[in-house]
Amino acid sequence: MKIAIMGFGIVGSGAYEAAKLADGIEIKKILDLRVRPGYEDIADKFTSDINDIISDEEIELVVETMGGVDVPREYVTKCLKAGKHVVTSNKNLVSACYQELNEAAAEGNAKLRFTPAAGGGIPWLFNLRRAKRCDVLTEVRGIVNGTCNYILDSMHKSGANFEDALAEAQKLGYAEKDPTSDIEGTDTLRKCVISTNLAFDANVTEDQIPACGISSISAEDIQFFNSNGYTCKLMMYSKVMDGKLSAYVEPAIFGPQHLEANVKANNNLITLVGENVGTLSFFGQGAGSAPTGQSVIQDVIDIKDGVEMNAPFHDYFPAAETSFIANESQLHTYYFRHDHPSRMITEITDKFAVVDGTYYCISKPIPVVEMHELAKHMKQVERPFFFAHIHE
Ligand code: HSE
Repeated sequence: MKIAIMGFGIVGSGAYEAAKLADGIEIKKILDLRVRPGYEDIADKFTSDINDIISDEEIELVVETMGGVDVPREYVTKCLKAGKHVVTSNKNLVSACYQELNEAAAEGNAKLRFTPAAGGGIPWLFNLRRAKRCDVLTEVRGIVNGTCNYILDSMHKSGANFEDALAEAQKLGYAEKDPTSDIEGTDTLRKCVISTNLAFDANVTEDQIPACGISSISAEDIQFFNSNGYTCKLMMYSKVMDGKLSAYVEPAIFGPQHLEANVKANNNLITLVGENVGTLSFFGQGAGSAPTGQSVIQDVIDIKDGVEMNAPFHDYFPAAETSFIANESQLHTYYFRHDHPSRMITEITDKFAVVDGTYYCISKPIPVVEMHELAKHMKQVERPFFFAHIHE
């Protein structure tokens, strides 16, 4: 099968390398503004004009690894409508335009796959879809951001400070171009949207799901967790209970009995719960050129070999009752740190200790949304604040 790659950065070049190990895949064209250093020998494959790809009838499939939303949205939609299959690793695009992409695929009778968009090298979305063939899913949750996991693991392990650990994750190619989306939880939010929509035939959007990241975590928080036997992770949670869908992204702390507590470096651990299968977890590298690149090519091979899931992705129809988020029933006990015992804070506090003017607290069980709103307020008024759900 002749294919093209749009965007030859960390993931695109990883896909190119993985394709060398696959039978029957020829990369005919690469869309990028410049030839990536080290790839001068294939400079003749490079083009900066999307029409060179669209008008090439030999190209049956296009890999999109550009990142961002607006330009890939236009290019991917064009490719799908022109009947070219698309594999994309672009979570921003899939999260923002899921329905539109499915419609374009249906119009062009083309296949759309996006396994690498959540979980990096892990075949999470592929298996999520597969699990649904003979099961009813009730929950998805997990560590889905390699950068945050790398940072938190370094802080726990060696007392590294936040900035140094982030710089290292950037150097290793785990972080986004602008790492704000990693550390503020937006990247995890996008993977939560994609996983939720796929798991529950939903059509939820990013603005419906409360999300908080780890940018305000301190060495003192980590010290507190270490001395109490807890490990901090950034988590996505999504579940259906009594026909209602809840979803949120937040830091959580885990005791040593949980698998999550043992996830190191850039790894992800993503879990589904099904009425038949029970709890099923997927572990592996959630970011990086080679792991994510091979996941792209796995999807390409599946399309080439005609591997179908229960239905093409574009056959999905969102169910009305799972297209809005109802978090009211989700109550958690939280760890939180602040320096300002206002009435609002005192009311939710169950226990606390004060060290040098900093309050280390355990909350009463409170609704998820209440804690997220408090964190947002503290950020707006520029007061130090960090919270983490105590995962039972
Ligand atoms: N920045 C992302 C992460 C890349 O760290 O997980 C993979 O989606």
